[in-house]
Amino acid sequence: MQLLLFIGGLTLLSTTSFAAAAPKGYQTQGEDRNRWVNLTSLPTPRQEHTTVAVDNNTIAVLGGVERIGNDSVQLRVFTTNLVELYDIPSDTWRTAAPLPIKLNHPNSAVVNGRIYLLGGLVDTQEPPTAEADWIATGKSYVYDLDANAWAEVAPMPTGTERGSAVVGVHGEMIYVAGGMTVLNLVNQDASTTVTAFNTTSLQWQRVPSIAANIPEGRQHAAGAVVGDTLYVVGGRWYERTNVRDTVFSLNLLNQIAGWRTSPSHMPTARGGVTGGVVGSSFFAFGGECNPNTSNGIYPQAETYDFEPKEWKRLNDMPVPRHGTAAVAVGNRIYIPGGGLQQDGVPIERNGVVSYGQATAHFDAYEIEN
Ligand SMILES: *[C@@H]1O[C@H](CO)[C@@H](O)[C@H](O)[C@H]1NC(C)=O
Ligand SMILES: *[C@@H]1O[C@H](CO)[C@@H](O)[C@H](O)[C@H]1NC(C)=O
Ligand SMILES: *[C@@H]1O[C@H](CO)[C@@H](O)[C@H](O)[C@H]1NC(C)=O
Ligand SMILES: *[C@@H]1O[C@H](CO)[C@@H](O)[C@H](O)[C@H]1NC(C)=O
Ligand SMILES: *[C@@H]1O[C@H](CO)[C@@H](O)[C@H](O)[C@H]1NC(C)=O
Repeated sequence: MQLLLFIGGLTLLSTTSFAAAAPKGYQTQGEDRNRWVNLTSLPTPRQEHTTVAVDNNTIAVLGGVERIGNDSVQLRVFTTNLVELYDIPSDTWRTAAPLPIKLNHPNSAVVNGRIYLLGGLVDTQEPPTAEADWIATGKSYVYDLDANAWAEVAPMPTGTERGSAVVGVHGEMIYVAGGMTVLNLVNQDASTTVTAFNTTSLQWQRVPSIAANIPEGRQHAAGAVVGDTLYVVGGRWYERTNVRDTVFSLNLLNQIAGWRTSPSHMPTARGGVTGGVVGSSFFAFGGECNPNTSNGIYPQAETYDFEPKEWKRLNDMPVPRHGTAAVAVGNRIYIPGGGLQQDGVPIERNGVVSYGQATAHFDAYEIEN
């Protein structure tokens, strides 16, 4: 039996979860008693967006890429400024004020009910080229839900502009770890940079130099702050195929101790992975560059218990995706949209070949109470 205790805004997962009864290692698939719940689809199919919870009732999906085409063929991809809000109690969507710029792979977080959007990737030209050709911008904004308005804040400092980073909130601070500055058909990089944004002063701050770089560059990774620790989970190093299974961590209360690499690796190395935290467990979903599936997508759902540091495999995603963004609220991890096939891998549907397919599918992984 898994027990969820709600104490003062913290969701604590009891240690007598299904993990205790399950065998050690990665064998819990099939014994996973959590469930997948289908929700009202996104109004607009997209991928390479980010998702944040504004409060306990409202989820926001920011930016990303849409694809012009239809269900059988996607003709081209373009970056969007679209912001859609999901109301959890009514299971409905509405459109909010758009981002001031079109942005994919945005870095975003919520502090005190405000959305902070801290850089991302933008098209290199307008109108954009047919295929992905993106570079980093440091432009940063804050969104107020009541006013439904965006305001510009200090940009990422010169040289630290990037998208596709891991973002974690700790008190008034937002930490941005790793990421990338370029993504096109022939070139991707992977940043080690760690920076911090102070939502009180609305300024960027340095972290101690020993904490200013993760152990190896990562983009398209998952991660979060759990308690006082920032985690960077999986992701890739430069090209798509260089998938990684590492868990990097930084104690935010003792940053001068620097980053650590956990001895416990993900069961499945992957990039384009997303995740969220419920209680004391991190849940990781999906990803791309799977050599074992025709669409190149990882269906894997896996969970990491921070204490003991141990990974377990859960039941696969019913609709495997990459380039999506998950957010945890209560005992659910919400996963709106994403890509149904590895970018650039040709898939034939109804006699038509597509090289990418964004979905409007929206579901949640619900952890058993
Ligand atoms: C969100 O829900 C948690 C758990 O029920 C609660 O403790 C917290 O106060 C809520 N937060 C807000 C902003 O309403
Ligand atoms: C959820 O939606 C997916 C995609 O449409 C579908 O394949 C699956 O059967 C649905 N699951 C349930 C429980 O309805
Ligand atoms: C989808 O778009 C392609 C390219 O324009 C076209 O050939 C095809 O007939 C369309 N399919 C449907 C179902 O509309
Ligand atoms: C954030 O900025 C405020 C206002 O300048 C300052 O008082 C506070 O110490 C800063 N927080 C951190 C964690 O540095
Ligand atoms: C692919 O399948 C093989 C054979 O089952 C397995 O050994 C390997 O770990 C799989 N690779 C990935 C990346 O899932």
